[in-house]
Amino acid sequence: MGVGIIGIGTVVPPRVLTNYDLEKMVDTSDEWITIRTGIKERHIADSNVNPSDLGAEAALRALKMAKVEPEEVDLIIVTSASLEMIFPSMAAVIQNKIGAKNAGGFDLLSACTGFVSSLITGAQFIRSGDVRTVLVIGTEVLSRFVDWEDRNTCVLFGDGAGAVVLREVGDGYGLISWDLKLDGSGADLLAIPGGCAKNPCSEEVLKNKLHYIKMNGREVFKFSVRVLGETTEESLKKAGLTPADLDWLIPHQANIRIIEAGAERLGIPIDKVAINIHKYGNTSTASIPLALEELVLEGKIKDGDVLALVGFGAGLSWGSAVLRWKNIES
Ligand code: UT7
Repeated sequence: MGVGIIGIGTVVPPRVLTNYDLEKMVDTSDEWITIRTGIKERHIADSNVNPSDLGAEAALRALKMAKVEPEEVDLIIVTSASLEMIFPSMAAVIQNKIGAKNAGGFDLLSACTGFVSSLITGAQFIRSGDVRTVLVIGTEVLSRFVDWEDRNTCVLFGDGAGAVVLREVGDGYGLISWDLKLDGSGADLLAIPGGCAKNPCSEEVLKNKLHYIKMNGREVFKFSVRVLGETTEESLKKAGLTPADLDWLIPHQANIRIIEAGAERLGIPIDKVAINIHKYGNTSTASIPLALEELVLEGKIKDGDVLALVGFGAGLSWGSAVLRWKNIES
């Protein structure tokens, strides 16, 4: 059974934080950030806006494009690297906000790989025949987990959300193949170490800023370049395809240099790669839908195009999903 995307919606908060704004906050420069990351600006949520607010808005937009009513949603999968609360799940909070009164659901956590993992999971539920309509939402208010005094990390991240509606799309279309991998030996390379069971909230945690994102940028960079190519090739191989068959590479937007190096290793020309990191920074689970939606709205993806969605990040975790695109009827 072909299971694919029948609607997509995204949202970013209106407030923009530019590299020039950051120059006034930490010892950095627009030139350094642009050259080393490709980021020019990012969107930051106001203090009264939570990840579930952005996620619900993106979900309603996706449902509208899909012409699906909230009551028709069977399953909601929410993925995030900036949890609203440990529990209840964000799936439950968003279910209530959008009025999806017949849906079940859960949160699926896999940091920046979360959107790919959730898309694959949602497709399996439909393939099993048990459900018809799945809503997958990646939503982030990462700005709450950023140490705004740490120039190594604060220039990278942004807030936003993206959602897709999954349904049967016809034989030969939709998810063709996938690859998901973990290497927990790299768990310390990128983490929010404090505030949960291992390092519960305490004065010590606050003093050492363990409730903020900690990253070994160089190591995560090398890992990301390697796995971007590896997982894309693995998924393509499972589909009996090669990188030359790809029409669009849609990678997690972590750093323009990671994206360019990954594409080069795969031999994919840069004009077949979705890039919008300059506008949003790294929005973790929201970055792939934000990049995909842009291509869809600009009419750049044609019916039958082969897409690879590629995620990588904390865990370490990484993965890819190869899809044959079915045009969304307007
Ligand atoms: O979404 C999950 C995946 N996350 C990622 O993929 C992030 C991966 N890592 C990266 O994108 C890059 O490693 C960074 C953008 C974080 C850093 O770039 P880099 O080229 O690896 O720089 P670096 O860490 O090697 O630092 C080079 C220099 C250092 O100074 P010294 O030691 O050479 O004097 C840093 O202190 O740049 C300095 N630096 C900065 N300078 C100005 C670090 N951050 C900044 C900054 N502005 N914001």
